[in-house]
Amino acid sequence: MTISVIGLGKLGLPIACILAKHYKVIGVDTNPNHLKLLRSGINLNRETNLDLWYKSYKNNITFTDKFTGLSRLIFIVVPTPSLRIIPLPLSLLKML
Ligand SMILES: NC(=O)c1ccc[n+]([C@@H]2O[C@H](COP(=O)([O-])OP(=O)(O)OC[C@H]3O[C@@H](n4cnc5c(N)ncnc54)[C@H](O)[C@@H]3O)[C@@H](O)[C@H]2O)c1
Repeated sequence: MTISVIGLGKLGLPIACILAKHYKVIGVDTNPNHLKLLRSGINLNRETNLDLWYKSYKNNITFTDKFTGLSRLIFIVVPTPSLRIIPLPLSLLKML
């Protein structure tokens, strides 16, 4: 089974790494520098213990900026910046 995670930031990358223990994961992000680091084995996310999970399971993750060929199950973890307005801005979600 393959699972996709869109947005590999503070929350998305840990989710992708945990899923990658058991599943093939497609990790999508639009930040080219972030993708370059992740592909070269560098994790800048300081989440506790994430380095261990990333090193152990990153080979089960395909890092990409492409939205084609994703799995049927997709976690969307892009920013929804919290401003003092209701409802929350969902512009990034609506772009997907
Ligand atoms: N960080 C937390 O502790 C936390 C806790 C609860 C909920 N959340 C929610 O999780 C979501 C993500 O938060 P975060 O802290 O991980 O954000 P983040 O800024 O750390 O990461 C977001 C990632 O998404 C990527 N991205 C932006 N637009 C994209 C797009 N259109 N397609 C693909 N990738 C895109 C960015 O390059 C970045 O790597 C938000 O909705 C936030 O409210 C976060």
